[in-house]
Amino acid sequence: MLKRSLLASYFLLITLFISAQEKPPYAIPKKFEGSNGAVVSAHPLASQAGLAMLQQGGNAVDAAIATQLALAVVYPGAGNLGGGGFMVAALKDGRTVALDYRESAPGKAFKDMYLDSAGNPITSLSLEGPLASGVPGTVAGLFASLKYAKLPFKKLVAPAILLAEKGFAITQSQARSFNGSKPDFLANNKKNIAFVKNTKWKEGDLLIQPELAATLKRIRNNGADEFYKGITAKLVVAEMKRSNGIMSLDDLKNYEAKERTATRFNYKGYEIIGMPMPSSGGLLLEQMMKMIEKRDIGKMGFQTTEAVQLMIEVERRAYADRGTYMGDADFVTVPVDILRSQKYLEQRMSDYQPGVAGNSKTTKEGFVKESEETTHLSVVDNEGNAVAVTTTLNGGYGSYTVVSGAGFLLNNEMDDFSVKPGAPNMYGAVGKAANAIAPGKRMLSSMTPTIVLKNKQPYIVTGTPGGTTIPTSVFQTLVNLLEFNMTPYEAVYEPKFHHQWLPDEVEIEKGFNEITAQKLGKMGYTLKARGAIGRVELIVITQEAGRKIIAVADNRGDDAAKGY
Ligand code: DON
Repeated sequence: MLKRSLLASYFLLITLFISAQEKPPYAIPKKFEGSNGAVVSAHPLASQAGLAMLQQGGNAVDAAIATQLALAVVYPGAGNLGGGGFMVAALKDGRTVALDYRESAPGKAFKDMYLDSAGNPITSLSLEGPLASGVPGTVAGLFASLKYAKLPFKKLVAPAILLAEKGFAITQSQARSFNGSKPDFLANNKKNIAFVKNTKWKEGDLLIQPELAATLKRIRNNGADEFYKGITAKLVVAEMKRSNGIMSLDDLKNYEAKERTATRFNYKGYEIIGMPMPSSGGLLLEQMMKMIEKRDIGKMGFQTTEAVQLMIEVERRAYADRGTYMGDADFVTVPVDILRSQKYLEQRMSDYQPGVAGNSKTTKEGFVKESEETTHLSVVDNEGNAVAVTTTLNGGYGSYTVVSGAGFLLNNEMDDFSVKPGAPNMYGAVGKAANAIAPGKRMLSSMTPTIVLKNKQPYIVTGTPGGTTIPTSVFQTLVNLLEFNMTPYEAVYEPKFHHQWLPDEVEIEKGFNEITAQKLGKMGYTLKARGAIGRVELIVITQEAGRKIIAVADNRGDDAAKGY
């Protein structure tokens, strides 16, 4: 038995290795339909690593861990060891999990650390270089999720080690991205790093990361302690010293992933499960869904002026609340019960007028009486478990700083704090005291890993990157499925839009309904065309005619859906 499974693992690793060395464009399957299990992630080799675990008897959590580790190698812009994330899971025994491995502010961080002597934000400091990094949470998160997994860590990390050590052929979009980021890499690293070479990167080039492979092996041998107390921790602190960072060995030693209580609400009989503070995602999604629930948006129709205007106005109201009330609930009181109450949400919508453009000067946060780079993966297995994970370095390649000798990038998540009340961060989001910097505090996130249950069974598993557009993208994906009766493919591929209170404008993706755009413009909305919004990874599981899985990878990137 043991021999057979060893043989199977060996075979799967070889398959992975061969497909990794294949010249791209290697297959990037966008869809999978089947009945056992599926993995959708930002890179085909990472989806393959997750699938290999499902096929070796692992469950959805095993697959999610292996996929994240592989993403840290094959998708360095967002997959990571030096960042953080959230996992939401619906387990076969009915339990829900909300695991928080968000980065935290170092002990020496303070409220005004990114302001100059005149009190103005020095944006470059919260965005690039080691001062921009929060204490990484990913490795703690992976080990904390192991208790829901079945396979040994050794097995889960094997594909990542292989990909880092032997290398893999990069895609065209990865080559473009490395070439474009070269100046930032050079500016933020004193030593040579794997992502920079003298000539231009091109599709099919092999990316080999020996230092990262060695780090992964040390973690395999010594567990999470290696990252937080061992050689890796020391390398992180040495990197800090080289470039005026403030993260200390104590910060790393004290970091822990935290089990939270998932947000949970009912929408027309579906139970929707998401991430609570320090992510605003779960609460924003609840506020937006609840503000449309009684307005029969399904009848209005997809991307009609009526439906889009309603969605813009609920987005405006939810995001205004985000800017004022939301932050790490371990540090500030977030009035969650009020913000999600029916009475409050009805009151928020009392001034909504169909056909008349709203305005963020008059619509502010509600009255409460009381003291682009991230990556998402969705997994389901054949046991009935479902997992949604969103993880990030914040901006693409985070702080651009690679820990010398350890081969991984550090995040620039500190920029997600409100560095000054009202000053926009890289996503234009504004905040106040609730999201001010304090030692040990976790910066407010928009990440929205989400699972929808139907008759208590996982029905939809989804999430996306995209900074502040994340909650609105998940919102639209759910409305597309639950109200506009779209197929899973349409729900992901149709153009999206976004409003976040401030700036008071509606961003629209290419292909957005032109007539609706014209009508909204006439009504008084400011519309702004922009590039792709989000990269939604979606799995829908239907039970009506026998169990059927439909997994869809967004076509806005190299994302891939695999299953068996
Ligand atoms: O946690 C957050 O909300 C952000 N740091 C997410 C960043 C992101 O999605 C970038 N992706 N494009």
